[in-house]
This record gives sequence, structure tokens and C-alpha cells, in this order.
Amino acid sequence: MTPEPISLDEALASFDELWSPRIVTAVNDYDVRVAKVEGEHIWHVHDDTDEFFLVLAGELRIVLREPGGERTVTLPKGAVFTVPRGTEHKPVSPEGASILLFEPTGTLTVGDRHDAVPSHVDATTGHRLT
Ligand code: NI
Repeated sequence: MTPEPISLDEALASFDELWSPRIVTAVNDYDVRVAKVEGEHIWHVHDDTDEFFLVLAGELRIVLREPGGERTVTLPKGAVFTVPRGTEHKPVSPEGASILLFEPTGTLTVGDRHDAVPSHVDATTGHRLT
């Protein structure tokens, strides 16, 4: 929790790194994180937690590997989507986006199992706002 209100615009303006979430506040044992994204993240899976996405600006796509095959969901600004636990997914944003994530504190951006992590992806449990 935080003692004062937080401007998401100011939080987003305080860093430039892509795919590198900042923790803006916490709710019980969940983090509220914001991130700037562009290009492709990596295939990964969170075995024990769902992962909530809200698109604040731009457009995010999430490719899902489901029992029936691969499916891409497209989230314009203002859209929310929850990736179910255990579902392999890859966030993608060709044009760039700002997103808000809601997930248990300590959740790793690259999940519990993942592809090799390229240099443009930050494997982190979220950074503090500075
Ligand atoms: Ni994920």
C-alpha cells in the first residue's frame, strides 16, 4: 500500500525500459504493476496464478497456447484480460503499449517455465518506483 495517491501517467513517465514492470501499489498480497511494452515478450507459463492485464494505452496482443491450438486475443486501450494459470502465453505489441498488471507479489515476469530470455526482456518480480 501507499500513503498517497499515485498517478499512473507519472509512474509511466518515470521510466523508459520495456518489458520491465514497476510496482505502483499492492492490494493484500497482490501487486499492481505498470509496464511499457513493444515488440515480443517470450512464451512462458505461470503454473499457480492467473495474470490480469489492463491496457492503458496502445494495443496489446496475447498469444495463448490452448488445448485446441494457438489463439491470439487483441486488447485495445481500456480492455482487460486474464490469462488463466497454466496457460502458456506470449504478450506481443508491434506498435507499443502501456499496460497494468495485477498478480501475486513475487510473480516472475517470465513465469515458472519459459523460453530463453533475450536481452530485451527483464526477468523480474517488478521494480520499485523511483
Ligand atoms: Ni505472464
